[in-house]
Amino acid sequence: MSEIKTVGVVGLGLMGSGIAQTVASAGFTTIVTEASAELLDRGVERIRSALDRQVQRGRLDNEAFAATMGRVHGTLRWEDFAACDLVIEAVIENEAEKRRVFTALDQVCPPGTILASNTSSIPIMSMAAATKRPDRVLGMHFFNPVPVMKLVEIVKALTTSADTVATATAFARALGKEPIQAPDRPGFIVNMLLVPYLLAAVRMLESGYASKEDIDRGMVLGANHPMGPLTLLDFVGLDTTLYIADIFFNEYKDPVYAAPVLLRQMVRAGYLGRKSGRGFYDYSTEPPR
Ligand SMILES: NC(=O)c1ccc[n+]([C@@H]2O[C@H](COP(=O)([O-])OP(=O)(O)OC[C@H]3O[C@@H](n4cnc5c(N)ncnc54)[C@H](O)[C@@H]3O)[C@@H](O)[C@H]2O)c1
Repeated sequence: MSEIKTVGVVGLGLMGSGIAQTVASAGFTTIVTEASAELLDRGVERIRSALDRQVQRGRLDNEAFAATMGRVHGTLRWEDFAACDLVIEAVIENEAEKRRVFTALDQVCPPGTILASNTSSIPIMSMAAATKRPDRVLGMHFFNPVPVMKLVEIVKALTTSADTVATATAFARALGKEPIQAPDRPGFIVNMLLVPYLLAAVRMLESGYASKEDIDRGMVLGANHPMGPLTLLDFVGLDTTLYIADIFFNEYKDPVYAAPVLLRQMVRAGYLGRKSGRGFYDYSTEPPR
């Protein structure tokens, strides 16, 4: 197993900024980059304000805040990733873009550096094949919001070495996370179970089987879920869910992954969930209707 001291994070959007925050908070030197200087500033600012909220809530003292931010180093030069023992890629969900990032990292990082992707649906093997170190490439699938959610799915591609898996697993534990091992197939473990469930809830609503409130209340009170499936869909984003369902259906050709027409129409209408102010519920009022 290799020792991890310095960690790179590529892409500081929703997931990458949460990953970088978690990594720096766990005491690792954290090198971060974005697509432009402006986006890099914005990403680092997002990390700073998330940590600042922890200070406001009394969960972090000023000294720890300063020490954590002191471990975050922004750069726009790939060469700076040569210092990393592990790099986690969290750029947009686009195969060509991810392959470009992996090739660039492969050229600058020493042969021992592990390259991980946070992809939800793109084959890890495709990114491993874009490098000359397919044994040092794997998936590390975090969950949103990263600082809060405990799970990391460790995804082994056909070529990933046992040492790479063991090192990434130990690193996930060092972040305070609980790793599980998943195969390199769209959906890994969690989404493969979760997505058909969410789609089934939309089908129930679409067919007039039950009201949205009763579907949600049923799963909260009857299965002890923190929120019902339609509320969860509004959180995740209807567009994101549709995108994932289409990828799964394309791969598996199984009707459980076929997106209901209602979901597709809502996305066409711009009813994307919380982020657009309306999904299955209306978020223009507090509490939502
Ligand atoms: N959103 C989720 O709930 C979730 C959960 C698990 C995994 N993921 C995966 O995480 C990844 C990122 O998702 P997100 O929700 O953070 O998206 P996002 O759009 O919020 O962030 C992506 C960021 O990558 C940046 N970027 C694009 N190309 C880049 C490049 N070449 N170099 C550096 N930065 C670049 C973009 O500017 C953007 O800020 C995706 O692969 C997604 O599938 C998302």
